[in-house]
Amino acid sequence: MFFKNIDKSEKKVIYIALSVSTIHLLLIAIAVAYFRIDVPTCQPQEKLFDKGSIRTVAPKRVEVQYLAKMWNFEPRRIVIPIGTTVEFFLGSLDVIHGFHIYKTNINLMAVPGVINKAIHTFNKPGIFHIVCHEYCGTGHQNMHAQIEVSETATSATSDLDVAATGVQPIDEAARKLYEAKGCIACHTLDGNPGVGPTLIGIFNQNVTLEDGSSVLVDESYLRESIKQPTAKLVKGYAPTMPILPLTDDEINILIEFIKNLK
Ligand code: CUA
Repeated sequence: MFFKNIDKSEKKVIYIALSVSTIHLLLIAIAVAYFRIDVPTCQPQEKLFDKGSIRTVAPKRVEVQYLAKMWNFEPRRIVIPIGTTVEFFLGSLDVIHGFHIYKTNINLMAVPGVINKAIHTFNKPGIFHIVCHEYCGTGHQNMHAQIEVSETATSATSDLDVAATGVQPIDEAARKLYEAKGCIACHTLDGNPGVGPTLIGIFNQNVTLEDGSSVLVDESYLRESIKQPTAKLVKGYAPTMPILPLTDDEINILIEFIKNLK
C-alpha cells in the first residue's frame, strides 16, 4: 500500500503533520462552538453605502452601517440598550482604515469598494471605544468612535440624528486639546462672550471686524486667526490672543472641533 514505500522517519513526519492539523481544526471548532468567535467575513455582494446609518430591525437587534473616512467614523456615537445584538457593516469612503472595538472580538478592516461584516451582542453596560488601527493620514490618531451600552435606553440611537435623539457627537480628543491649549480660557463653550468671542455656532457665519468690514468664518479664516490672531480682529475685542505653538495636526483638529460647535 501507500505507506509501504515510506520509511519510518517520513511516517513519523506524516503522523505529526496530521495530528497538528487535526488539533488546529478542533481548536477552531471549539472557538466557534464555545467562545462564539467567528471569522470576519467580506461581503462583496453587499450594497455599498456612502452614509452611516443605524436601523432597529427587531427588538434588541440593530444593524449599523459604519462609514470610515478620513478621519472619522459615521456614526461617531451610538447608544444601545443593554443586551442588544449589533450587526456591523463596515465600508470606507476613501482609503483603508481599521475598525477595532475594545473589549470585543471585533476587529475589521474598512476597505474601499467592499463591505465587511461582524456581529456582537453587548451584554455589559458601559462605553465601548472604536479605534482606527490602520495608519490613514495625518488625522489617524484622532479617528475613533463610541458605542454606549445603556441600562436605561429603550431604543438604539446615534449622533446622526442629534435633533431627534439628543445624542451628542463625541469630540473628546479635540475638546481635551481645546482645553489643554488654553483656548477655553478666553473662548467659552457656553455661548457667552469671554475675553474673546464665543466660538459656538460661528462657523459659516459672517463676523464684523474691527475695521467695520465683515468676513465669513470658514476654514481659512479660522486657520489664519489661530496662526495670526491679530490679522482679522473681531469688533469689540482686544488683540490679546497669543500665537500658540500648535502643530498643523493640532490646528486641523481644533478647526474641525470649532466647525462642529453648535
Ligand atoms: Cu483611519 Cu487610521
